[in-house]
Amino acid sequence: MAQQVANVWWGMFAFATLVLVAVSAIWIYALARKPRKTSDEDAIRINRRWVIGGGIVLPSLSIIVLLIFGIPTGRSMMPLPVEGEQPLKVEVTGHQWWWEVHYPDSGVTTANQLIIPAGRLVDVQVSSADVIHSFWIPRLGGKMDMLPGRTNVIRIQAGHTGVFHGQCSEFCGLQHTHMKLHVEAMEQADFDGWIAARENLRFTAGAPGEAGQVFDDRCGQCHRVAGLSEGGRAPDLTDLATRPSLGAGVIDNDSEGLRRWLREHKDLKFGNAMPSHDDIPPQTLDQMADWLETLAP
Ligand code: CUA
Repeated sequence: MAQQVANVWWGMFAFATLVLVAVSAIWIYALARKPRKTSDEDAIRINRRWVIGGGIVLPSLSIIVLLIFGIPTGRSMMPLPVEGEQPLKVEVTGHQWWWEVHYPDSGVTTANQLIIPAGRLVDVQVSSADVIHSFWIPRLGGKMDMLPGRTNVIRIQAGHTGVFHGQCSEFCGLQHTHMKLHVEAMEQADFDGWIAARENLRFTAGAPGEAGQVFDDRCGQCHRVAGLSEGGRAPDLTDLATRPSLGAGVIDNDSEGLRRWLREHKDLKFGNAMPSHDDIPPQTLDQMADWLETLAP
C-alpha cells in the first residue's frame, strides 16, 4: 500500500514540476518579449483561450488522471474481502498517551508495540478511549484517525521483516509527541511463536515483600498483569520486559531506564496519568523494578 501511495505521490510531483517549469517559461517570455499593441477584442479572445485551457481543461484532465490512479490506491487500504489467506486482525486503541494493542483471535494484549507477520495483510481496527488520536506508520503508508466511540479499519502490509516506527499524528494533548509505537514485522513462524508464548501466559507469583503490597494496593488497580490483576485503565504489563521502551518511546526499557521511569516518570512524561511514587521508599521501588523485569514469557 505504501508503495502505491509513493507511486501516486511521485507522479503528482513530476507533473507539478512540469507545470512549474511551463508557468515559469511563460512568465519569463511575457517579461522578455516586446510589448505589442493588441485591440481589446483580441485581448479578450486570447485571455479566454488561456482561461479555458489553463483554468478548466488542464485541471480537469489532471484530476481525472489522478482519480484513475488514486482510487485503486485508496481502495488497497480499505478492508475489502480477499481470497485465500485472511488478514490478521489487530485492535489498536489510542489513550493519552499510549497505545493499547489487542489480538482478538488469541486474546493477547500488549502496549506500545505492534508485532505483525511480514508479507501478510493486517487489518488494524483503530479506536480511541479518550480524545482523537491518529494511527500512522509512515513507512507502511496510510494514516487513520482514531475516534472515541467509533472503529475505523486500516489495512497495512509490511513487505519485509524489520522495525518500523509509528507515531500518533493528531495533536492529542500535552504528550502527543511521546506517543510512539514500536512496530515489528516478523516471519509468520516467529509471529506465531510470539503469540503462542503470550496466549496462555499467567503469573502466579506477585512482587515480593513490600512491593507486592504496593502492587496490590496501587499499580494493580489500573495495570493488568495476567493472573494477578485485572487493571484495564493503564498499559497491560504482562509482557512488559519484552518491550523496547517505556512511556511509549520516552526511555529505553533496560534496568536503568525502568528504575528511572518508576522514580521520575512525572518529570520524564509530564501530565501522564500514573500517580507520583515519591511516597514509596526507594528500596521498595527497586524491589518492584526487579520484579517488573521478570514480566516476560
Ligand atoms: Cu495521540 Cu497525538
